[in-house]
Amino acid sequence: MKAYMKSGVAVLLAAMAVCLCGCNEGNSRPTGGSISSIVINSSNDAANGGSGSTSNGSSGVTGNSSSTVSDVSEPDNLTVNADKTVASGETLTVKSGETLYINSGAELTVEGKIDCENGGSINIQSGGALLLGGDIRLDGDLKLNGKLGIRESGKIAGSGTLSVLDSFEDIDCEGTCTAKIKAPAPVEKDGITTVGGVLIVNKKYTVPEDYGDGLVIDDAYNKLLEMREDTGYSLALVSGFRSYETQKGLFEYYCEIDDYERVIMYSAEPGHSEHQTGLAMDLGEITEDYAYTEEGAWLTDNCHKYGFIIRYPMDGTDKTGYDYEPWHVRYLGKSTAKLVVDSGLTLEEFLGVETQ
Ligand code: DAL
Ligand code: ZN
Repeated sequence: MKAYMKSGVAVLLAAMAVCLCGCNEGNSRPTGGSISSIVINSSNDAANGGSGSTSNGSSGVTGNSSSTVSDVSEPDNLTVNADKTVASGETLTVKSGETLYINSGAELTVEGKIDCENGGSINIQSGGALLLGGDIRLDGDLKLNGKLGIRESGKIAGSGTLSVLDSFEDIDCEGTCTAKIKAPAPVEKDGITTVGGVLIVNKKYTVPEDYGDGLVIDDAYNKLLEMREDTGYSLALVSGFRSYETQKGLFEYYCEIDDYERVIMYSAEPGHSEHQTGLAMDLGEITEDYAYTEEGAWLTDNCHKYGFIIRYPMDGTDKTGYDYEPWHVRYLGKSTAKLVVDSGLTLEEFLGVETQ
């Protein structure tokens, strides 16, 4: 029955498809500023037989301005108030009980390494920024209220947690983050629910009946065109935007030819389909075998580079509520898609929301 259903689904979806034309300052270091709580390990020092760590005024946080990295009100806190750099080969260690603040108007560029130990914190304040070309070993916490840029060479790893306090758009990730990411709480407004700016639609979260403008959003559609152009694969658009009414007709049709308990594993009830958001597309062929074709395998492995995720992954049914759909991609934008893929989680798990 399942095989029959899948081909039936393919035929019906094809019939209903929407047509879319639709600095590094060398070794100079700032003087002044008591930062005894911050220990810097320089790989060069270590190589020369040095202790590999300095304290009491030798921060290793270098900058091209005259301002210094200095203690503020609390002795265990370090605040970056102007643009600074942790140079290549240097390590800034944030020990347990310490907090590294990057304040509004300041950008900390990390070409070397930050070692945030268990119990330590990095707090990127609103208006502050951290640009990572090197590594962050995150065994403590990173609270993101400002901006975080992770360049292709940048990497965040460890047992700690990166908490996104406002929006995933505050992260521009071209590199890798394998540390746990904690999303902000869901926000409901005008009948739609977003988590850190990411629209969530599933068996629990709905969109209003009149939601959507009949088309896949331009950004997602343009990325489909780019994937086709770059690969030469046809990546046929089997189904793009589906209105509430279209989804209702589809769901009711399936219920006529299949058991309800089975239908709800492959078709969303009206108001619950990502297709109504204009952010989802069914590409290629509506069969699990698509994953084993050259095109389908490419899509699975590479769609995140264009801002998509395979929304209902293999072995994800317990988390998403749906069967594996190697053809259904959801547009998140390149950075967030990369973060989700690096996490190895379903979108529900990544956003910390319930499935149903
Ligand atoms: N096939 C997916 C779950 C939908 O109907 O939106
Ligand atoms: Zn779909």
